[in-house]
Amino acid sequence: MKERIIFATGNEGKLREIRLILADLGRKIVTMRQAGFDGEIEETGTTFAENATIKARTVWEKTGGIVMADDSGLVIDYLNGEPGVYSARYLEEEPYEVKNRVLIDRMKGAVGKERSARFVCHITTVLPDGSELHADAAMEGRIAEKPAGDGGFGYDPILYLPEYGMTSAEISMEEKNRISHRGKALEQMKEKLSRALEGEQ
Ligand code: IMP
Repeated sequence: MKERIIFATGNEGKLREIRLILADLGRKIVTMRQAGFDGEIEETGTTFAENATIKARTVWEKTGGIVMADDSGLVIDYLNGEPGVYSARYLEEEPYEVKNRVLIDRMKGAVGKERSARFVCHITTVLPDGSELHADAAMEGRIAEKPAGDGGFGYDPILYLPEYGMTSAEISMEEKNRISHRGKALEQMKEKLSRALEGEQ
């Protein structure tokens, strides 16, 4: 029987997206909790790659098998890469409406290309023999002058995508999955994983 894939997330939204993209691998995809991991994972890394690898390895140590984890965030050049790996924890107590307002306020004085920013995603997969596969991708844009759109989540309303003339919260979910940092990194990982598992019984 084909080995299942354990995804190190508790986020159902992410899991739906992942199941859709990885469907043609023909493998069952379960969460780390379903695989029996009930601990907490401290994201102590300073890069997306480190954090994705910490998550995947921590779960793998307990479960073995194939474990996949991602780490993502918004990188704003004008703010020296903030909120970056701290995207989920930035102004932690505040709703995204406030976080997004604050980030736009901090962009005062930045014009045109100075507003460049991107969502970044790194995916690490640990294989049954303990070796690792890595994939990463970005979705480039600019910080909008004001938030727009109610699709997506998190920082989507403030990442303006010049080629669409809209923010990431205004494009359809299908379109976002096709061009997003996570969608592209998952597609890459799917290729690498199916090659790595070729011939597996
Ligand atoms: P993670 O779940 O540890 O990877 O945290 C990712 C954080 O980055 C999220 O909580 C959001 O704040 C932000 N983020 C990542 N991807 C997106 C996206 O596609 N749209 C909006 N915000 C995102």
